Amino acid sequence: MSSRLLDTSCFRSFEHDGWQSAAHRYHEAFGELTGQSVTALLDAVGAGRGMRLLDVASGPGYVAAAAAERGAEVVGIDFSAAMVAQARQKYPDIEFREGDAEALPFPDRRFEAVVMNYGLLHLGQPEQALAEIHRVLRSSGRVGFTVWSKPEEAIGFEIVLRAIEAHGSLDVALPPAPPFFRFSDPQECYRSLLEAGFVSPHVTRIPQIWRLRSPEALFEIMREATVRTAGLLRAQSKEILDAIRSAVREASLNYLRGDMIELPMPAVLASAVKP
Ligand SMILES: C[S@@+](CC[C@H](N)C(=O)[O-])C[C@H]1O[C@@H](n2cnc3c(N)ncnc32)[C@H](O)[C@@H]1O
Repeated sequence: MSSRLLDTSCFRSFEHDGWQSAAHRYHEAFGELTGQSVTALLDAVGAGRGMRLLDVASGPGYVAAAAAERGAEVVGIDFSAAMVAQARQKYPDIEFREGDAEALPFPDRRFEAVVMNYGLLHLGQPEQALAEIHRVLRSSGRVGFTVWSKPEEAIGFEIVLRAIEAHGSLDVALPPAPPFFRFSDPQECYRSLLEAGFVSPHVTRIPQIWRLRSPEALFEIMREATVRTAGLLRAQSKEILDAIRSAVREASLNYLRGDMIELPMPAVLASAVKP
């Protein structure tokens, strides 16, 4: 179903509450991993000196900080006050604002580049966010976003989802929302970018490895530092959750390399141009 036909207001609150409470664990849990996409994402939009660049769903500010290092004039925006506070603390010289990806608080044609690192998959109305990005970009400006590859490739998700499926249920009541892996399909990226009015869409895969210190880490991170996957776990009973925890631990051990767990976690990187 197109997300335009879904009432996603509940999902927005669910995501907002989720990020507010996950924010304090996010950096330690995901920072090293989502940081692996930053160079490719900034290259895809040609980020460089003097360029006005917006980082949407900026979280702790990794992309904004790297763009500022390249000499871009950067603003980061995120709807979680806790994330914005963290970004401001980490990078006090960069402007971070609270705001919604689906209603960007900027005038038309304000930016030469807009990036979103692992943000689009968290939105109830991703088409609306792409329309907003199109609006705030000037002509010939570039958009770039990343999402996780499908779970068969992004093994951290595969392990947890298969464990839930085997021991519990994936069919639990979460607020209606577009599928988490919708944009993992390159065709869906091309289609959505073209529909939003962009041209010359380009989609590539970024190989990445998630290094975790212990076989227990994946379960704990998914429970404490994510939103939708944490919601799936919360909906299981205590006994089932214990079985899922053991299954995730066992499966993680298949990826033990030296004293670290190394999980393949590739990303899909999509970019396009506003004509
Ligand atoms: C997976 S984190 C990505 C953070 C960061 N970009 C990174 O590279 O690690 C997703 C971020 O999207 C933000 N977010 C989710 N929905 C949003 C919305 N509707 N508007 C603005 N930010 C949103 C969350 O608060 C969270 O910081």
